[in-house]
Amino acid sequence: MFKKSVKRISMALLMLFTITKAQTEDSLTNNERAQKIAEKARPAIMAAAYVKQQIAKIRNPQLRRLTEELITNPAPTYQAKAPLQKEREQVLSELRSAGLITAEVSLEGIYIPVKDPTKAAQSFLAAPGSYYRSAKSLAGHHSYPGGLAVHTAYNLRAGLSMIENYKRQYPLDTSGSGFSVDPDLVICGIVLHDIMKTLVFQWKKDGSLYEEQQIAGTGAHHILGIAEMYVRGFPAEAVIAMASAHDPTAPSPLRKKVVSYLRAAAIIARVDPVSYGTLKAKDDELDIASEARPEHFIVHLSDADYHYSGHAAAATVGILRELAKTELGWSDEALDGERFNWLRNQLLASHTEIGLYQLYLKKGSKALLRLISSK
Ligand SMILES: [Fe+2]
Ligand SMILES: [Fe+2]
Repeated sequence: MFKKSVKRISMALLMLFTITKAQTEDSLTNNERAQKIAEKARPAIMAAAYVKQQIAKIRNPQLRRLTEELITNPAPTYQAKAPLQKEREQVLSELRSAGLITAEVSLEGIYIPVKDPTKAAQSFLAAPGSYYRSAKSLAGHHSYPGGLAVHTAYNLRAGLSMIENYKRQYPLDTSGSGFSVDPDLVICGIVLHDIMKTLVFQWKKDGSLYEEQQIAGTGAHHILGIAEMYVRGFPAEAVIAMASAHDPTAPSPLRKKVVSYLRAAAIIARVDPVSYGTLKAKDDELDIASEARPEHFIVHLSDADYHYSGHAAAATVGILRELAKTELGWSDEALDGERFNWLRNQLLASHTEIGLYQLYLKKGSKALLRLISSK
């Protein structure tokens, strides 16, 4: 009996391994290339150090340890909750019958190919902050090595200063009326809000990124991050705070979206969200097991930098492309592939999109041309 199930597990793992070997090996080399760029990029180094400093300020020792561990090793251990092909198909079918994914979502959109689910696909330092490009945009926000650290650090600064501003504007009085907040939940929620971008957005040989699928109507990274928090045993209130990053928990259709994020992630993590304490049954429906709290709004509002950084990234990449073409005579092939992509990755990692865009606003495109020529 035991021998039979070991054989079954080995066969399934072998199958998965064969399918995904090419992608994982390809990603490994390219992720290392991104890691090397990030290790030399001052914005990424400073940002990662700031994030670590803030984690150290989490007062609850269990939450501090869990947050530190997930940032240090963002391994997709949720994948080990359904190691067999059959079990993964079961997860997929549960998500489908709950209306949480469309028919187009594949198994590999949830179980992103990795060699070993106890190890991170790439480090927090090397990961990008979003998709590479889209039909509408030449570049997503922070889509370069070190982008995730920069994005997370900015959000953290925004969230912590928002706490101070709320406190100034709505001071606590002796009756307890005014503004009070648990900064532990704000720090943990923001630090981890995009942690599975380390998994979802891995590097291709041509310097661009693998594409993300949608779960529960949002980017898979969000749901997989919540699933990972369930699996690692984060307190329910921290899981809810992190899940609020994409939408607020105020009673509205948006609150229902957060319910579906927590539900989809629970299916993937193989936990019951009601007994875990993130969701509760209400009038034959599921609801979040918490009031709409200030921490949820702060985690959500702090994730709004993409408006400016997204614009800066697309504009800057457009200008860099144009300069390489018209001033340096690069071919379309070079502009659409490895040569331009890795150059762009390097420049954005060294200066950030906002840094490059503001350099352009102040000194014009000649300043950007000098940067390209120096590479
Ligand atoms: Fe996100
Ligand atoms: Fe984000």
